[in-house]
Amino acid sequence: MRAIVLDGFGGLDVLTYRDIPEPEPLAGHVVIEIKAFGINHAEVHMRRGEWAEAAPVSGIECVGIVKSCLGREFPVGAKVAALMGGLGRTINGSYAQLTSAPVGNVALIEADLPWAELAAIPETYATAWTCLFRNLEIQKGQLLLIRGATSSFGQAALKMAVNAGARVIATTRNPERFGKLQALGAERCEIERPDLSKHIADAKQIDAVLDLVGNSVVLDSLAMLRRGGRSCLAGWLGGLDPIPDFNPLLQMASGVYLTFFGSFVFGTPGFPLADVPLGQIAQDAAAGRLDVKPVRIFGFDEVREAHRLMEANAAGGKMVVVH
Ligand SMILES: NC(=O)c1ccc[n+]([C@@H]2O[C@H](COP(=O)([O-])OP(=O)(O)OC[C@H]3O[C@@H](n4cnc5c(N)ncnc54)[C@H](OP(=O)(O)O)[C@@H]3O)[C@@H](O)[C@H]2O)c1
Repeated sequence: MRAIVLDGFGGLDVLTYRDIPEPEPLAGHVVIEIKAFGINHAEVHMRRGEWAEAAPVSGIECVGIVKSCLGREFPVGAKVAALMGGLGRTINGSYAQLTSAPVGNVALIEADLPWAELAAIPETYATAWTCLFRNLEIQKGQLLLIRGATSSFGQAALKMAVNAGARVIATTRNPERFGKLQALGAERCEIERPDLSKHIADAKQIDAVLDLVGNSVVLDSLAMLRRGGRSCLAGWLGGLDPIPDFNPLLQMASGVYLTFFGSFVFGTPGFPLADVPLGQIAQDAAAGRLDVKPVRIFGFDEVREAHRLMEANAAGGKMVVVH
């Protein structure tokens, strides 16, 4: 089968097209004929060798058709999504024609949507849904601030939070993007800055922060919450550096909660993928209640270009690749 193999770590040219053997059917795994897959920062980090683990074939998510499933957990021919479970990290991932995913990281996704739209859902929407409705326990009427809201993750969270009745303040570094965020349902936009808590009118009134800028603003996110409010750290758009000279006694806001979510736990005990209503999200999209359309669709031969756009922050939303 055709696959994109990491030839060492580095720039775009380490993504090399090769013919490699098809995955063998394996107990506890599902062999999937991949129809489309999303592009993720994780894959850029893995390509550059910035993460602890990277499999030869990258790609942490896909949608496709079940080709074989020894344990019969999924019928052959079913439309499924797969994400995480070591895909692209410890086992070969989705930048290929076929992949073999652990059963616990596969979900039925039967909605009548084009493959490109289905491919925009698994990693982005599963993670955004979990952050909003598990870690942050967002309720109708609550005030949520999303930092890094123009990212594909941020946009997915914004749309689902608005659908759930939350009031959303969205941040971007670029005021020209305010209109887009407001069109997605944001009540207001703010310019993203490291000391936003000192400038935002709603400081100490915010119920929840979904923080996709990450380590560099963790403490600032906590500082803008009301007493009992929560911040969920789930993205690193501001860089992977640790918090310098962290001294909780001198730097942390009192009476607020910090929570973290990393999608690599999907499929592990305590974090079953079945917890996430992926099928319902796809149905909502098919029924027009949720717009999951990717902003860019690439062919299998164009993955380097997709990585280039992601590194340049020029995507403007979810990018997917279709076979
Ligand atoms: N926790 C998890 O399991 C999980 C799952 C998926 C993704 N993630 C993480 O979530 C983040 C978003 O991923 P994505 O794929 O949705 O990203 P993306 O679509 O590529 O996000 C691009 C946007 O990020 C913003 N950005 C770039 N550099 C920034 C900086 N230094 N400070 C603030 N904003 C910056 C830019 O927005 P503006 O120019 O408009 O400001 C840009 O439009 C990434 O860090 C990713 O690793 C985490």
